[in-house]
Amino acid sequence: MEILITTFSLLTLAVIVILIGTRGRPMRFFTAFGETLVQIWANRGPMVWVMSCVFLVLGFLFFFYASPATRIGAAQPIPFSHRLHAGHKAIDCRFCHSYVDKSIHPGMPPVEKCLFCHNYIITNHPEIQKEHDYFNSDTPTPWVKVFTLAEHVVFNHERHIKRDIACEACHGDVRGMDRLKGTRFKMGFCIQCHRDLGVNVGCWLACHN
Ligand code: HEC
Ligand code: HEC
Ligand code: HEC
Ligand code: HEC
Repeated sequence: MEILITTFSLLTLAVIVILIGTRGRPMRFFTAFGETLVQIWANRGPMVWVMSCVFLVLGFLFFFYASPATRIGAAQPIPFSHRLHAGHKAIDCRFCHSYVDKSIHPGMPPVEKCLFCHNYIITNHPEIQKEHDYFNSDTPTPWVKVFTLAEHVVFNHERHIKRDIACEACHGDVRGMDRLKGTRFKMGFCIQCHRDLGVNVGCWLACHN
């Protein structure tokens, strides 16, 4: 939604800039594309300013669509990094998501788990102070959920983990990500693997309730 508003604003801005720059005759702007930049610079008319503005707008567009910031997931209350903890420090997924092979729900780590280390490591870091605040006020950290399924689908982690399906098969390269970029799982994704491995695709009975 935000991206739509941004796009719309940028387009409006571009139109206004072109209209002003060409003194109400936008066609001039398009014919000028035929000229080389050198010629434009030699004439140094209002076109130069229009072109500069166009490049500025293109810059903004790049920033919004292609900058690395758009390729990472939702911001979390504490900037927890899987790349650092599960990747670099190689902490086992199950240390934090303890119930993943025992229950339908993998579980999120309670703040005590973080403090298990962070009572000793970088204790004065402002983000670690936040952990203490959550702990002292007995509030669970309000982690933002990033992987979702339609409500009527039953998904059971335990059954999949017991069959040695790697977390990465569904969650991607978690160990390489700072912020997890989640997805909303589509049925086709589930069915594809169930077909490939020859497991139950009678999903109307098995997966939907
Ligand atoms: C097994 C030990 C361990 C556990 C458990 C642990 N961490 Fe860490 N954490 C580390 C280490 C080691 C570092 C790197 C410290 C450094 O930069 O010297 C770190 C760094 C951090 C940082 C700072 C990153 C930065 O960019 O400066 C944050 C924030 C953090 N952890 C949050 C958490 C949260 C939230 C949890 C609980 C979900 C958690 N940690 C659990 C060991 C742990
Ligand atoms: C030190 C604790 C810790 C370890 C180790 C850890 N995680 Fe996490 N995990 C978290 C925390 C905290 C969150 C919530 C914040 C976030 O999404 O980044 C989370 C979130 C997730 C989510 C997103 C859940 C959602 O909200 O939809 C997935 C998937 C996940 N972890 C998978 C893994 C996998 C796979 C591994 C092992 C490669 C792993 N985690 C290792 C602490 C940990
Ligand atoms: C076969 C696919 C699949 C595999 C393999 C898988 N997950 Fe998941 N995971 C999911 C789906 C689907 C959801 C969303 C479930 C929901 O919203 O009810 C999810 C959600 C999660 C969540 C968030 C749970 C919550 O309460 O919000 C965590 C944490 C997680 N997975 C961790 C792991 C870890 C760790 C592993 C590996 C040990 C793993 N997953 C393996 C499909 C998978
Ligand atoms: C990477 C492969 C893979 C993916 C992706 C996958 N599954 Fe599975 N699933 C399996 C395997 C293998 C089994 C069989 C487990 C067993 O034998 O207990 C299974 C079993 C199940 C079962 C139990 C079926 C029964 O016979 O009762 C359900 C329900 C299920 N999956 C739902 C889902 C859903 C929902 C998704 C999508 C979010 C999904 N699966 C994605 C491999 C996968």
